[in-house]
Amino acid sequence: MLKIGVLTGGGDCPGLNPVIRAVVRTAYRENAETIGIQWGWKGLIENITMPLNHATVSGIINRGGTILGSSRTNPYKDPANLEKLKQTWKTLKLDALVAIGGEDTLGVATKLSKEGYNIVGVPKTIDNDLSGTDFTFGFDTAVNIAMEAIDRLHTTAESHRRILVAEVMGRHAGWIALHAGIAGGADIILIPEVPIKMAEVVEVIKKRNERGKSFSIIVVAEGAKFEGNEVLLEKKVDDFGHVRLGGIGEALARKIEEVTGQEARVAVLGHIQRGGSPSAFDRMLGTRFGEKAVTLVKQGLFGHMVALRGNEIVPIKIEEATSKLKTVDPAFYEMAKTFFG
Ligand code: F6P
Repeated sequence: MLKIGVLTGGGDCPGLNPVIRAVVRTAYRENAETIGIQWGWKGLIENITMPLNHATVSGIINRGGTILGSSRTNPYKDPANLEKLKQTWKTLKLDALVAIGGEDTLGVATKLSKEGYNIVGVPKTIDNDLSGTDFTFGFDTAVNIAMEAIDRLHTTAESHRRILVAEVMGRHAGWIALHAGIAGGADIILIPEVPIKMAEVVEVIKKRNERGKSFSIIVVAEGAKFEGNEVLLEKKVDDFGHVRLGGIGEALARKIEEVTGQEARVAVLGHIQRGGSPSAFDRMLGTRFGEKAVTLVKQGLFGHMVALRGNEIVPIKIEEATSKLKTVDPAFYEMAKTFFG
């Protein structure tokens, strides 16, 4: 019987459990066996596993997070860990692995595939910045949470004639900020791809005031550059070299107050965007991705990942998703400006 390992790596997101459930249920259909690797690549290094079967995936389609746990462990950082990972693969007698993750997890999957390991990828990230797929699951839920927050900020901002800055996630790409900002009717949206021009921000606020709108809502992605630089919570980097971003909202609010004299406050949405129950769209996408991933394993199409193209789930080379980040097209941002102010 074919034995398939399943792991979830990187930042968690709503929709991981629907993928895990779909992989297990499809494996039953295909007479294959599944085993859960816990805590991302760390579980494969240290041989930490859990059974995956009807019972363990029952009642999880509506649950956020991942029953397997996750980590940002990079096995390629230490050759000894890479050896241990290869040993665990042998010990567990894995025929294939379904690796569910974003650019880092799939980057490791690409390297291991090139070394001959049978891996199928499933793209995940709330940031939606993976190339090759129209959407990643988790994004829709995060956008809806951020949009609802923007709706709520409107009423309190108006009552107090304040400027409210909503800081949303998005390390390198402004997809969450743009989608939630447009859907929530934000007055200004600032993204990592386009340097912030304070003069433009102030101009929009001024024009609104002239129109009798004495409050404004600004949505800013955590990776947006303030005075040319990213704003960091700390310089320490994780296994994949990522710093911890945070503080752009506060920096922006202080500057706006200084320049306009109007009171500005900040709401940092942070991990609220990543927690809780997945939307129907993310449950569907996760389910379709999981089903297709096992189908690819059965077909022996390794080194590939599942991707959404239009309304089809198709296999693409994992490398296609990881070689280049999918950032916001400048034309799309220009279009969004129609709704600023
Ligand atoms: O990559 C997804 C993401 O949610 C980013 O938007 C964010 O910068 C990062 O993860 C936060 O990661 P962590 O939870 O490890 O701090």
